Amino acid sequence: MSAENLALQEEILKLKKQRHAIILSHNYQRDEVQDIADFVGDSLELSRTAATIECDVIVFAGVNFMAESASILSPEKTVLLTEIDACCPMADMIRVDSARPVRKSFPGFDNPPPYAYPPEFTLRDIKAQHPGVPVVTYVNTTADVKAESDICCTSANVVKVIESLPSDKVICIPDKNLSMWAARNTKKQVIAWDGFCHVHERVTPEDVKKARAEHPNAVLMAHPECRIEALDMADHVTSTSGILRFASASSAKEFIVGTEIGLLYRLRKENPDKVFYPLRKDMICPNMKKTTLKSVLRALKENNYIIKVPDNIRIPAKRALDRMLAIK
Ligand code: 13P
Ligand code: SF4
Repeated sequence: MSAENLALQEEILKLKKQRHAIILSHNYQRDEVQDIADFVGDSLELSRTAATIECDVIVFAGVNFMAESASILSPEKTVLLTEIDACCPMADMIRVDSARPVRKSFPGFDNPPPYAYPPEFTLRDIKAQHPGVPVVTYVNTTADVKAESDICCTSANVVKVIESLPSDKVICIPDKNLSMWAARNTKKQVIAWDGFCHVHERVTPEDVKKARAEHPNAVLMAHPECRIEALDMADHVTSTSGILRFASASSAKEFIVGTEIGLLYRLRKENPDKVFYPLRKDMICPNMKKTTLKSVLRALKENNYIIKVPDNIRIPAKRALDRMLAIK
C-alpha cells in the first residue's frame, strides 16, 4: 500500500474510534476501501448488519439506496454516504408516481436502450393494472418506492421472498433480469418491470461463449442482474456474497466471474489457491468506484453526506424491509 494510503488509513481508524463509527462496504468497492471497512458484504448482509450493529455512526461505502436502507433500519444512528452522487441508475428506472421528475440521463450511464414501459409509466400505474397483486421490490430502489411495496428482496433471497407470499402472482420491480431469473425458479407468475443494471446488462451470450472457450476448465458464476440469456448459460447464479461462498466451497480451481470486477479482490484474497477471470473486463460500476479512502476520511471528519429518510416514507419502507429480513 502507498504511503499516502497508509496515512489515510491511520487517520480514518483514529476518527472512527473517536466517533464510535463503523464502516460498511459493498463487495464492489475499491480494494483499499474494502480493506478499511469493518464489514464487507452483499446488500442483504449489509442491511442485516446496519439493522443490528451497535454504533453511533454508520459510514456507508456503497451507493445511495444502500445508505437509505441503513437509515430506514437504524433511524437513531447517523448514516453517512461517502459520495453524495454515488447512485444506482437502475434504482432511478422506476418511480412511484408522476410527481417525481423523469430522469432523462443517468449518471455513469449515457446510452440507455429503449424501454418497453414509457418513462411516464409509474409503480402506481402497474399496481392499478394488477389490483391486489403483491409488489416485491429489489433493494436497488429509492425509499419512496420501497414504501409503496409489500416486501423487499435482494439478489440473495428473491426466490425465497416470492415463495413466502400467499399469492400465485407477484409484481417484481425494477430489474427485468432478476425477475425473469426468479420466474425460472418459482411456479408463481412474475410480472416484471423493465429496469436493468447497465454493468450486468452488457454481458451477451457471445461473451459467455468466448470466456468458456478461453478457460474451458473454469466454472462460470454469474450475478442474476446479467441478461437472462447469459444466466441460462451459467453454472451458478447468485448474489455477490453467494459467489464468494460458492467459490470457496467448490473443489474447482478456475472460475469465470460474471459480475462487477470489484468482487475479484475478495475472491482472490480469500482463495489464494484458485484462479478467477472476469467474464468481461469492463464490468465496472462507476458509481461504486466513486468512493476512495479520501471520501471515507472526509465523511468522518466533516460528518457528510448525511442520509435521513423522513418518517412518512421511512415507516412504510421499513415494513417492507423488515418483512424481508424476517425471512431466514
Ligand atoms: P448484491 O446484493 O448481490 O451484492 O448486489 C448488489 C448490486 O448492486 C449488484 O449490482
Ligand atoms: Fe446499480 Fe448495477 Fe452499480 Fe449494482 S452494479 S449499484 S445494480 S448500477
